[in-house]
Amino acid sequence: MQTQRFDADEIVDFYNETAWEYRVFWSTANLHYGFYDDESTTHREAMVNSNRVYADTLEVDEADTVLDIGTGRGGFPTHVAAEHGADVHGIDIDPLHVSEARANARERGVAQSTEFSVGDYHDIPYPDGTFDAVSGIETVCHSEHKERVLEEIRRVLAPGGRLMISDGFRSRTALTDPEAEKLRTVLDGWAVPDFAHISEFREALEEVGFTDVTFEDHYEQIIPSSRRQWLLSLAVTPLLRIAAALGLKSESSVDQGVTLYHQYEIIERGIAVHGNFTAELPE
Ligand SMILES: C[S@@+](CC[C@H](N)C(=O)[O-])C[C@H]1O[C@@H](n2cnc3c(N)ncnc32)[C@H](O)[C@@H]1O
Repeated sequence: MQTQRFDADEIVDFYNETAWEYRVFWSTANLHYGFYDDESTTHREAMVNSNRVYADTLEVDEADTVLDIGTGRGGFPTHVAAEHGADVHGIDIDPLHVSEARANARERGVAQSTEFSVGDYHDIPYPDGTFDAVSGIETVCHSEHKERVLEEIRRVLAPGGRLMISDGFRSRTALTDPEAEKLRTVLDGWAVPDFAHISEFREALEEVGFTDVTFEDHYEQIIPSSRRQWLLSLAVTPLLRIAAALGLKSESSVDQGVTLYHQYEIIERGIAVHGNFTAELPE
Protein backbone atom coordinates (compact mmCIF):
# COMPACT_ATOMS: atom_id res chain seq x y z
CA MET A 1 0.00 0.00 0.00
CA GLN A 2 1.35 3.41 -0.95
CA THR A 3 1.96 5.83 1.91
CA GLN A 4 0.59 9.29 1.18
CA ARG A 5 1.90 12.49 2.63
CA PHE A 6 -0.20 15.11 4.35
CA ASP A 7 1.89 18.08 5.45
CA ALA A 8 1.00 20.29 8.42
CA ASP A 9 -0.83 22.87 6.28
CA GLU A 10 -2.92 20.17 4.62
CA ILE A 11 -3.87 18.73 8.01
CA VAL A 12 -4.86 22.17 9.33
CA ASP A 13 -6.85 22.86 6.12
CA PHE A 14 -8.55 19.48 6.51
CA TYR A 15 -9.70 20.27 10.08
CA ASN A 16 -10.78 23.79 9.12
CA GLU A 17 -12.79 22.55 6.14
CA THR A 18 -14.48 19.89 8.25
CA ALA A 19 -14.85 21.89 11.48
CA TRP A 20 -18.65 21.85 11.19
CA GLU A 21 -18.76 18.08 10.57
CA TYR A 22 -16.46 17.44 13.54
CA ARG A 23 -18.76 19.55 15.74
CA VAL A 24 -21.85 17.67 14.59
CA PHE A 25 -20.47 14.12 14.22
CA TRP A 26 -18.14 14.31 17.24
CA SER A 27 -18.48 17.32 19.56
CA THR A 28 -17.40 20.85 20.44
CA ALA A 29 -14.79 19.46 22.88
CA ASN A 30 -13.90 15.82 22.12
CA LEU A 31 -12.76 14.58 18.72
CA HIS A 32 -12.31 10.92 19.60
CA TYR A 33 -14.24 7.67 19.91
CA GLY A 34 -16.36 7.20 23.01
CA PHE A 35 -16.23 4.26 25.40
CA TYR A 36 -19.75 2.93 25.98
CA ASP A 37 -20.66 1.07 29.16
CA ASP A 38 -23.71 0.64 31.42
CA GLU A 39 -23.49 4.23 32.65
CA SER A 40 -22.30 5.86 29.43
CA THR A 41 -24.97 5.15 26.88
CA THR A 42 -25.00 8.27 24.69
CA HIS A 43 -22.35 9.55 22.28
CA ARG A 44 -21.44 12.48 24.53
CA GLU A 45 -21.39 10.43 27.74
CA ALA A 46 -19.21 7.83 26.02
CA MET A 47 -16.68 10.46 24.93
CA VAL A 48 -16.48 11.82 28.47
CA ASN A 49 -16.14 8.25 29.73
CA SER A 50 -13.18 7.65 27.43
CA ASN A 51 -11.54 10.75 28.96
CA ARG A 52 -12.16 9.24 32.40
CA VAL A 53 -10.60 5.92 31.38
CA TYR A 54 -7.65 7.63 29.69
CA ALA A 55 -6.94 9.78 32.77
CA ASP A 56 -7.09 6.70 35.01
CA THR A 57 -4.83 4.82 32.61
CA LEU A 58 -2.30 7.64 32.75
CA GLU A 59 -2.65 7.63 36.58
CA VAL A 60 -2.85 11.42 36.71
CA ASP A 61 -2.93 13.13 40.09
CA GLU A 62 -2.85 16.75 41.25
CA ALA A 63 0.93 16.82 41.63
CA ASP A 64 1.39 16.09 37.91
CA THR A 65 2.22 18.40 35.06
CA VAL A 66 0.74 16.82 31.94
CA LEU A 67 1.17 17.49 28.22
CA ASP A 68 -1.54 16.49 25.74
CA ILE A 69 -0.20 16.47 22.17
CA GLY A 70 -2.61 17.02 19.27
CA THR A 71 -5.05 18.26 21.86
CA GLY A 72 -7.80 19.33 19.45
CA ARG A 73 -10.61 21.22 21.20
CA GLY A 74 -9.17 20.32 24.61
CA GLY A 75 -11.74 17.79 25.83
CA PHE A 76 -9.19 15.52 27.51
CA PRO A 77 -6.94 18.17 29.12
CA THR A 78 -9.88 20.16 30.49
CA HIS A 79 -11.27 16.92 31.96
CA VAL A 80 -7.90 16.11 33.57
CA ALA A 81 -7.54 19.62 35.01
CA ALA A 82 -11.13 19.67 36.32
CA GLU A 83 -11.34 16.12 37.70
CA HIS A 84 -7.74 15.41 38.76
CA GLY A 85 -6.46 18.88 39.66
CA ALA A 86 -3.33 18.53 37.49
CA ASP A 87 -1.67 21.33 35.52
CA VAL A 88 -2.25 20.47 31.88
CA HIS A 89 -0.67 21.86 28.72
CA GLY A 90 -2.03 21.15 25.27
CA ILE A 91 -0.40 21.70 21.89
CA ASP A 92 -1.95 21.48 18.45
CA ILE A 93 -0.91 22.61 14.98
CA ASP A 94 -4.39 23.98 14.30
CA PRO A 95 -4.79 27.54 15.70
CA LEU A 96 -8.59 27.20 15.56
CA HIS A 97 -8.49 24.10 17.77
CA VAL A 98 -6.18 25.91 20.21
CA SER A 99 -8.60 28.84 20.55
CA GLU A 100 -11.54 26.41 20.97
CA ALA A 101 -9.57 24.53 23.66
CA ARG A 102 -8.94 27.80 25.53
CA ALA A 103 -12.65 28.65 25.34
CA ASN A 104 -13.57 25.17 26.64
CA ALA A 105 -11.11 25.60 29.52
CA ARG A 106 -12.72 28.93 30.46
CA GLU A 107 -16.17 27.35 30.30
CA ARG A 108 -15.08 24.48 32.59
CA GLY A 109 -13.44 26.90 35.01
CA VAL A 110 -9.93 25.49 34.48
CA ALA A 111 -8.31 28.35 32.55
CA GLN A 112 -5.79 28.84 35.41
CA SER A 113 -4.55 25.26 35.41
CA THR A 114 -4.45 24.74 31.61
CA GLU A 115 -2.33 26.27 28.90
CA PHE A 116 -2.93 25.75 25.19
CA SER A 117 -0.54 26.75 22.43
CA VAL A 118 0.04 26.18 18.76
CA GLY A 119 2.80 23.63 18.41
CA ASP A 120 3.93 20.65 16.39
CA TYR A 121 4.56 17.38 18.21
CA HIS A 122 7.58 16.70 15.98
CA ASP A 123 9.27 19.65 17.68
CA ILE A 124 7.55 20.06 21.06
CA PRO A 125 7.95 23.66 22.27
CA TYR A 126 9.00 22.79 25.85
CA PRO A 127 12.40 22.19 27.50
CA ASP A 128 13.72 18.72 28.37
CA GLY A 129 12.16 16.95 31.34
CA THR A 130 9.18 19.33 31.75
CA PHE A 131 6.35 16.81 32.17
CA ASP A 132 5.34 13.91 34.43
CA ALA A 133 3.01 12.46 31.80
CA VAL A 134 2.25 12.88 28.09
CA SER A 135 -0.94 11.83 26.31
CA GLY A 136 -1.82 11.71 22.63
CA ILE A 137 -5.35 10.70 21.65
CA GLU A 138 -6.12 9.85 18.02
CA THR A 139 -3.43 12.21 16.77
CA VAL A 140 -0.04 10.50 16.27
CA CYS A 141 -1.64 8.65 13.32
CA HIS A 142 -1.34 11.98 11.41
CA SER A 143 2.47 11.72 11.55
CA GLU A 144 4.63 10.16 8.89
CA HIS A 145 7.55 10.23 11.36
CA LYS A 146 6.14 8.54 14.43
CA GLU A 147 9.59 7.65 15.86
CA ARG A 148 10.42 11.37 15.84
CA VAL A 149 7.24 12.05 17.86
CA LEU A 150 8.23 9.37 20.40
CA GLU A 151 11.74 10.86 20.68
CA GLU A 152 10.23 14.28 21.38
CA ILE A 153 7.89 12.84 24.01
CA ARG A 154 10.83 11.12 25.68
CA ARG A 155 12.79 14.39 25.66
CA VAL A 156 10.08 16.47 27.39
CA LEU A 157 9.27 13.76 29.97
CA ALA A 158 11.04 13.77 33.33
CA PRO A 159 12.74 10.53 34.49
CA GLY A 160 10.01 8.06 35.48
CA GLY A 161 7.52 9.92 33.22
CA ARG A 162 4.49 8.13 31.75
CA LEU A 163 3.14 8.03 28.22
CA MET A 164 -0.24 7.08 26.79
CA ILE A 165 -0.95 6.96 23.06
CA SER A 166 -4.45 5.96 21.98
CA ASP A 167 -4.86 5.57 18.23
CA GLY A 168 -5.63 3.47 15.20
CA PHE A 169 -3.07 0.73 14.49
CA ARG A 170 -2.52 -2.00 11.96
CA SER A 171 -2.66 -5.45 13.49
CA ARG A 172 -2.28 -7.64 10.39
CA THR A 173 0.61 -7.68 7.96
CA ALA A 174 -1.35 -8.85 4.91
CA LEU A 175 -4.56 -7.26 3.68
CA THR A 176 -6.58 -8.27 0.63
CA ASP A 177 -6.81 -5.64 -2.12
CA PRO A 178 -10.41 -4.66 -1.16
CA GLU A 179 -9.38 -4.42 2.51
CA ALA A 180 -6.37 -2.26 1.62
CA GLU A 181 -8.57 -0.06 -0.55
CA LYS A 182 -11.12 0.38 2.24
CA LEU A 183 -8.37 1.25 4.71
CA ARG A 184 -6.89 3.78 2.26
CA THR A 185 -10.30 5.44 1.91
CA VAL A 186 -10.48 5.91 5.68
CA LEU A 187 -6.87 7.09 5.98
CA ASP A 188 -7.30 9.62 3.16
CA GLY A 189 -10.65 10.72 4.57
CA TRP A 190 -8.92 11.58 7.85
CA ALA A 191 -5.68 13.05 6.38
CA VAL A 192 -3.67 10.18 7.87
CA PRO A 193 -0.60 8.85 5.98
CA ASP A 194 -0.82 5.43 7.61
CA PHE A 195 -1.48 3.66 10.88
CA ALA A 196 1.60 2.18 12.54
CA HIS A 197 1.68 -1.57 12.98
CA ILE A 198 1.31 -2.50 16.67
CA SER A 199 4.59 -4.41 16.75
CA GLU A 200 6.51 -1.62 14.95
CA PHE A 201 5.16 0.96 17.38
CA ARG A 202 6.10 -1.20 20.37
CA GLU A 203 9.63 -1.63 18.97
CA ALA A 204 9.92 2.12 18.34
CA LEU A 205 8.89 2.87 21.94
CA GLU A 206 11.47 0.44 23.30
CA GLU A 207 14.16 1.72 20.95
CA VAL A 208 13.55 5.29 22.11
CA GLY A 209 14.04 4.16 25.72
CA PHE A 210 10.57 3.45 27.13
CA THR A 211 9.99 0.46 29.39
CA ASP A 212 6.92 -1.39 30.70
CA VAL A 213 5.24 -1.05 27.31
CA THR A 214 1.62 -2.28 27.24
CA PHE A 215 -1.01 -2.34 24.50
CA GLU A 216 -4.75 -2.70 24.99
CA ASP A 217 -7.19 -3.27 22.12
CA HIS A 218 -10.30 -1.09 22.59
CA TYR A 219 -12.61 -3.09 20.31
CA GLU A 220 -15.27 -3.80 22.95
CA GLN A 221 -15.29 -0.24 24.30
CA ILE A 222 -15.46 1.60 20.98
CA ILE A 223 -17.48 -0.63 18.66
CA PRO A 224 -20.81 0.97 19.71
CA SER A 225 -19.26 4.40 19.07
CA SER A 226 -17.99 3.27 15.69
CA ARG A 227 -21.37 1.78 14.78
CA ARG A 228 -23.14 4.96 15.84
CA GLN A 229 -20.94 6.95 13.45
CA TRP A 230 -21.69 4.44 10.68
CA LEU A 231 -25.46 4.83 11.20
CA LEU A 232 -25.05 8.60 11.23
CA SER A 233 -23.15 8.43 7.95
CA LEU A 234 -26.03 6.52 6.31
CA ALA A 235 -28.41 9.32 7.25
CA VAL A 236 -26.20 12.34 6.65
CA THR A 237 -23.97 11.52 3.64
CA PRO A 238 -26.79 11.83 1.04
CA LEU A 239 -27.64 15.26 2.48
CA LEU A 240 -23.98 16.29 2.37
CA ARG A 241 -23.83 15.19 -1.29
CA ILE A 242 -26.82 17.40 -2.15
CA ALA A 243 -25.31 20.31 -0.20
CA ALA A 244 -21.99 19.84 -2.06
CA ALA A 245 -23.79 19.77 -5.44
CA LEU A 246 -25.43 23.08 -4.50
CA GLY A 247 -22.04 24.53 -3.53
CA LEU A 248 -23.03 24.74 0.15
CA LYS A 249 -20.54 22.12 1.36
CA SER A 250 -17.07 21.02 0.21
CA GLU A 251 -16.01 17.60 -1.07
CA SER A 252 -14.11 17.18 2.25
CA SER A 253 -17.48 17.32 4.01
CA VAL A 254 -18.85 14.53 1.80
CA ASP A 255 -15.64 12.57 2.42
CA GLN A 256 -16.32 12.75 6.18
CA GLY A 257 -19.64 11.01 5.69
CA VAL A 258 -18.02 8.36 3.48
CA THR A 259 -15.16 7.89 5.96
CA LEU A 260 -17.55 7.39 8.86
CA TYR A 261 -19.22 4.67 6.83
CA HIS A 262 -15.99 2.77 6.11
CA GLN A 263 -14.37 3.21 9.55
CA TYR A 264 -16.95 0.85 11.09
CA GLU A 265 -16.12 -1.95 8.66
CA ILE A 266 -12.41 -1.37 9.21
CA ILE A 267 -12.81 -1.92 12.95
CA GLU A 268 -15.56 -4.54 12.78
CA ARG A 269 -13.55 -6.71 10.35
CA GLY A 270 -10.24 -6.22 12.17
CA ILE A 271 -8.61 -4.52 9.17
CA ALA A 272 -7.20 -2.08 11.75
CA VAL A 273 -7.62 -1.78 15.50
CA HIS A 274 -8.15 1.05 17.93
CA GLY A 275 -6.00 0.69 21.01
CA ASN A 276 -3.87 2.20 23.66
CA PHE A 277 -0.14 2.08 24.33
CA THR A 278 1.24 2.95 27.75
CA ALA A 279 4.92 3.10 28.68
CA GLU A 280 7.29 4.65 31.19
CA LEU A 281 10.77 6.11 31.27
CA PRO A 282 13.25 4.66 33.74
CA GLU A 283 13.69 6.73 36.98
C1 LIG B 1 -8.76 13.56 15.69
S1 LIG B 1 -8.15 15.02 16.42
C2 LIG B 1 -8.02 14.51 18.13
C3 LIG B 1 -8.01 15.68 19.05
C4 LIG B 1 -7.93 15.36 20.55
N1 LIG B 1 -6.75 14.58 20.87
C5 LIG B 1 -9.15 14.64 21.03
O1 LIG B 1 -9.03 13.48 21.42
O2 LIG B 1 -10.23 15.25 21.04
C6 LIG B 1 -6.41 15.08 15.92
C7 LIG B 1 -5.72 16.39 16.30
O3 LIG B 1 -4.31 16.26 16.05
C8 LIG B 1 -3.83 17.52 15.60
N2 LIG B 1 -2.53 17.33 14.94
C9 LIG B 1 -2.27 16.69 13.77
N3 LIG B 1 -0.95 16.72 13.49
C10 LIG B 1 -0.34 17.38 14.51
C11 LIG B 1 1.01 17.74 14.80
N4 LIG B 1 2.01 17.45 13.95
N5 LIG B 1 1.28 18.40 15.95
C12 LIG B 1 0.26 18.74 16.80
N6 LIG B 1 -1.04 18.45 16.58
C13 LIG B 1 -1.35 17.77 15.45
C14 LIG B 1 -4.94 18.00 14.70
O4 LIG B 1 -4.86 19.39 14.42
C15 LIG B 1 -6.18 17.61 15.52
O5 LIG B 1 -6.54 18.62 16.41
